[in-house]
Amino acid sequence: MDAFTYQKGELYAENVPVAKLAEQYGTPLFVYSRTYIRDHFRALARAMAEVDTLICYAVKVNSNAAVIATLAAEGAGADVVSSGELLRARRAGVPADKITFAGVGKTEDEIETALRENILLFTVESEQELERISACAARLGATGRVAIRVNPDVDPKTHKYISTGKKENKFGVDILRALQIYERAAALPGLEIAGLHMHIGSQILSAQPYAEAAAKVAEVCVELKKRYPTFRMLDIGGGIGIRYRPDQEPLLPPALAEAVLPILKPLKLKILMEPGRFIVGNAGVLVVRVQYVKNGPSKQFVIVDGAMNDLIRPPLYQAHHEIGAVRETPETVFGDVVGPVCESGDFFALDRHLPAVRQDDLLVVHSAGAYAYSMASNYNSRPRAAEVMVCGARHELVRERESFEDLVRGERIPIW
Ligand code: LLP
Repeated sequence: MDAFTYQKGELYAENVPVAKLAEQYGTPLFVYSRTYIRDHFRALARAMAEVDTLICYAVKVNSNAAVIATLAAEGAGADVVSSGELLRARRAGVPADKITFAGVGKTEDEIETALRENILLFTVESEQELERISACAARLGATGRVAIRVNPDVDPKTHKYISTGKKENKFGVDILRALQIYERAAALPGLEIAGLHMHIGSQILSAQPYAEAAAKVAEVCVELKKRYPTFRMLDIGGGIGIRYRPDQEPLLPPALAEAVLPILKPLKLKILMEPGRFIVGNAGVLVVRVQYVKNGPSKQFVIVDGAMNDLIRPPLYQAHHEIGAVRETPETVFGDVVGPVCESGDFFALDRHLPAVRQDDLLVVHSAGAYAYSMASNYNSRPRAAEVMVCGARHELVRERESFEDLVRGERIPIW
């Protein structure tokens, strides 16, 4: 489904006019479609139905409680990278036995929190981390179920900042050393060898790197299954790419399944996946209001009330986000959509043919459901935006706009 469509020239979020949401909740405003999120989760689950699959939504992608709860209600687990995310997932209704904990830098505190919660799996990135989990588990009298993250050295053909499965990346352990590291894990107390993990990158638009990486780790899994009777899970990570440009072909679940299922099925393991962007990316838009229109010598600057602190992907990854007018207009202008932050990097679009808008008109920045609010900051002392969820004709505020009090909470001026 398309969550955002025009009806008689007006942009709707499901069955609600976006202009009405902007009026009621103010701008900048993130709007998420619950139906889209649910349908995308279901589409992936359906495509993978031939194997026992647990889809652990990657909480970093959009950590709003309403988003996590929508997925938890569908039976999703959660992939977390900090105790903050772990507690968010638990609070939004994800059972601990569906939670995986990823990340290269887990602290002792975080490991202990996860052990106390008795989560499903730690995806482990180094030998030192194995030792630390073992020591924490021994101290607590708990067991840490572990999957070692193996770096299969496959090129996911994505932006270099979000490629993680090549040997020059900091993630995982060298596939050639994997068996040796599992031996080390087997010798440590408090650990259970439960699985193997891979995650090769994000915004991957072809099934081929997945198949290549899966084939490489499958060989290791066969050996691990022989050696360790507790070895039962293969986590193939996230990374499914979405459409940011109208002419882009997204990677769809059936194509992914067709490529990986022939490799995964014979393993007879429980398959874990950690998608994020695929589920929520195009479920969201950022609604902004035009503050000023300024004509420069070669182009127009449309200055809006949202900024790089709300959505940093364009300057950070040279990412393309479609821009649309909330009230359709046939006229276009050439120029940039920029925010009020004091940086030339504060833009949503550069050198584009844009809908011709005037002061006080509304624009939307598309594909803002993933890595937008979750990467937002308070730069320039800008309070973070509000978030609204829509479901059919219903809509509800799912996070309040921050206030000045929120901005300064916890700050102190020393008496000296
Ligand atoms: N699992 C692990 C271990 C991850 O590191 C990530 C994302 C995911 C799953 C979810 O990946 P997804 O299905 O969403 O591609 N901020 C960047 C993307 C960073 C990706 C970080 N890891 C962006 O805005 O493009």
